[in-house]
Amino acid sequence: MQNLLNLHEIEEAATKVISKKAWAYYYSAADDQISKSFNNTIYRSIFFRPRVFVDCSICNMETSLLGHNVKLPIFVSPAAMARLGHPSGEAGIAEACDRMGVAQIISNSASLSPEQIVAKASPGQVFGWQLYVQRDLKMSEAMLERVNSLDPIKFIVLTVDAPVPGKREDDERVNNIGRMAGGGGSVATQLFAGTDPSISWDKTLRWLSEHTKKPIVVKGLQTHEDVVVAGSYAPLVRGVVLSNHGGRSLDTAPPAVHTLLEVRRYCPEMFERIDIWVDGGIRRGTNAIKALCLGAKAVGIGRPVLWGLGAGGVKGVERTLQILGNEMATCMRLLGVKSVQDLGPQYVNTRIVEQQ
Ligand code: FNR
Repeated sequence: MQNLLNLHEIEEAATKVISKKAWAYYYSAADDQISKSFNNTIYRSIFFRPRVFVDCSICNMETSLLGHNVKLPIFVSPAAMARLGHPSGEAGIAEACDRMGVAQIISNSASLSPEQIVAKASPGQVFGWQLYVQRDLKMSEAMLERVNSLDPIKFIVLTVDAPVPGKREDDERVNNIGRMAGGGGSVATQLFAGTDPSISWDKTLRWLSEHTKKPIVVKGLQTHEDVVVAGSYAPLVRGVVLSNHGGRSLDTAPPAVHTLLEVRRYCPEMFERIDIWVDGGIRRGTNAIKALCLGAKAVGIGRPVLWGLGAGGVKGVERTLQILGNEMATCMRLLGVKSVQDLGPQYVNTRIVEQQ
């Protein structure tokens, strides 16, 4: 694993060894994959404003997520079906996160049970559990009851940007073939079969608050207007993830950077009211640091963790997180910032993005 130097090489290595089915499900994004592609390329149009001649012997990346300490301001975004890529699945991801001090959000559609995933959690290890509200509410209530009793799970992440799945053609092309006659469908179609398309702010948040006392984070916000709505539910809602679902839901939905910039311009008070996290397209330490400079408290990574798992199991995920952490540290040192708490908009030039 040590000879893999960056997240692109980890993706390449995984692509060679995982099944075509896993590749198609992980890689896929909606329609023409424009959001997926912009998620990543947008960071190329943001330039740093490094301050030089600053003592960078110390670099502190520790932070807290809703009051829980983590070693790095990154988290593993919820992603379904990790065992498609490696038999250790989400439990393998948990082991690597433990070694690296990184938080992990377990998907509603994980391939292992939450009990199995947190079984070996060390004290202080931080997990979230992500919920897709099911049409059969009793199913979601039963899951919440189980999750409520698991101490390592510190918060609930309610995903709201995929009441139905986007049109993911790689997944359909590879995974639907041969099943057409007997029903079935792409991996996504099957996973989303039971989800409730009628979720909405008031109804769903009220229901959720009746079934958990854990803090709630709403994932999938894409406009500043919705961030303000989420903020109006604080402190019931403690945080949001600005995300377009890795480009897998609505194609040409904005990358999180656009939404972050909107929040900065129209409702900056929201950064104080709720935790604002982002995900999508983070492939380099510099990407993560740019998002943090623009006000994100933490950044999520989705596919790179699955590629790491596919390429080398626990060690592959550990290597992925290690590369990203090291790149972030180098970036901060060259930027002249000693602690993630000191990152701010004065360290980035967003002129090109704002003109787009
Ligand atoms: C996801 N994502 C996702 N989100 C969610 O809330 N629940 C889920 O079960 C899943 N499942 C899932 C599976 C796979 C294979 C992928 C790639 C993504 C979206 C995920 O949490 C995150 O928003 C994106 O993956 C972030 O983008 P990157 O890092 O993959 O570019």
